Amino acid sequence: MRFWFLRCLNTPCFTALPCMLGEATALAARVARSFTSTQTANRRGIAVGGAEVQEDFISEEEERTLLEELEPVLKRKHYEYDHWDDAIHGYRETERSQWNEKNSRVLQRVRDVAFPLGAKQLHLVHVLDLHRKGYIKAHVDSVKFCGSTIAGICLLSSSVMRLISEKNPTDVVDLLLPRRCLYILRDEARYNYTHEILKDEESYFNDVKINRDRRISVICRNLSEDHAE
Ligand code: OGA
Ligand code: MN
Repeated sequence: MRFWFLRCLNTPCFTALPCMLGEATALAARVARSFTSTQTANRRGIAVGGAEVQEDFISEEEERTLLEELEPVLKRKHYEYDHWDDAIHGYRETERSQWNEKNSRVLQRVRDVAFPLGAKQLHLVHVLDLHRKGYIKAHVDSVKFCGSTIAGICLLSSSVMRLISEKNPTDVVDLLLPRRCLYILRDEARYNYTHEILKDEESYFNDVKINRDRRISVICRNLSEDHAE
C-alpha cells in the first residue's frame, strides 16, 4: 500500500516531480546528491552541530518486541531497488501510527529525548528496512514536510552514517550507529549536511570494518513550522 501525503523534494528542479510521478510516497522525500569530493575521512571527535548518537538506547528485549510487531508487516513487502528519486537502494518501508503498549513506550522515550516540549510531531513513525546489500545515498529530508529534528533507532545491524556539508563537500563526518542506538539529527546536521547510510563494502569507521547486515530504522520526525498534519 502506498501513502499519498507527500513530501516534496527540496531542489528546484525536482519540485514538480512528486506530483507527476505516482510513485511518491508519504515517507521522507529524499534528494539524492552526488559529490565530486574524494575525501571520506573519518574525523572522530569532530562533531557536527546537532548530530547525536546515544548507544544502547533500547535493550535487546525492546529490540525484539519492536521486531515482533514490524516483521509481519515488512515480510509482506518486497525489497525495492529502484526508488523513483533513486535515493535508496534495496529497501522496503512502512509507516505506523498504532503500536502495541511496550513499543509505544519506547517511541515515547524517543520523542521525549529528541523533540522539544510542544513541538508538532508527525504521528506516523517511518520504518525503513534496508537489505544487507541496501544503502541510502546522500540526501536532505524534505524541508517542506519535515521539521528541524530527525530521530531514529537502529535495529538488527550497526552502520555508518556519513554527513557531508552542502557548502563544503570536503567537510565529511562519519557517525557510527551501533545496533540499538538512537541517533538524532537536528538543525545544522539536519539542514546543512546531507546524510547517507553506507553500503557494506564502504562501511568502515576509523578504518574498522563495520559489517552491514539487514538493518531496520524506526524514525520519528517533527513537522516543519509552516506545515500542520
Ligand atoms: C530517510 C533516512 C535514515 C535511516 O529515510 O530519509 O535518511 O536511518 N533514513 O534509515
Ligand atoms: Mn533522510
